[in-house]
Amino acid sequence: MQESHRRVQWVYESTSDKDLEDRYDQWAADYDNDLATEFEWNAPQNATDVFIKHVDKQAHILDAGAGTGLVGECLVSAGYKDLAAMDLSKGMLDEAESKNLYNSFHQMALGGSLDFATDEFDAVIGVGVFTQGHAPANSFDELARITKPGGFIIFSLRVDTYESAGFKQQQTSMEESNIWELAEMTEEFQPLPKGEPEVWHRIWAYRVK
Ligand SMILES: C[S@@+](CC[C@H](N)C(=O)[O-])C[C@H]1O[C@@H](n2cnc3c(N)ncnc32)[C@H](O)[C@@H]1O
Repeated sequence: MQESHRRVQWVYESTSDKDLEDRYDQWAADYDNDLATEFEWNAPQNATDVFIKHVDKQAHILDAGAGTGLVGECLVSAGYKDLAAMDLSKGMLDEAESKNLYNSFHQMALGGSLDFATDEFDAVIGVGVFTQGHAPANSFDELARITKPGGFIIFSLRVDTYESAGFKQQQTSMEESNIWELAEMTEEFQPLPKGEPEVWHRIWAYRVK
């Protein structure tokens, strides 16, 4: 198995948030080469293509699970300027910081309470963070709290994870409770066409009420 494939499998096999954090810390320096260059990771651009349809360029944006800043690169290219990066892994955030894309950096874990004010952000974007063994479905409770009414939460989600890890139930229950409404859902696409063609994602966009 190629080294890049081994590293991707290795993060999926984490057994706790601490273990995942350590593995991403160790992967940080090679992440862009493994995922963006070798695997042709396209979810950051696909999510940005949806994002620009719903969110204006002055928005105060949280990139949740920002990693090394691949989403930040797409957003800045699209004209956004007010970006905050949040991630579990300090090593990944350090890589993002070196690119001069974000105004602030926050080491925090999705799934627990977030140290941000209610209605702090106009929009949240999360790419590649809602997947096997990563941020749980209940992360959206806090993300909806910190997003202004009328703001957007836009994310990529593995199609199999939607069914198997409680996302379908969480997303539907938040719609039924009038916390958010679906604004857009893309067709399924292969986010890693060169590395893991068997993985399929969709981009989801919700408007917070
Ligand atoms: C596959 S990477 C995606 C990074 C970036 N968004 C991208 O598209 O390249 C997943 C990121 O989610 C972070 N992560 C995993 N679980 C998390 C959690 N519970 N809270 C915050 N970040 C988390 C990891 O540290 C890692 O940087």
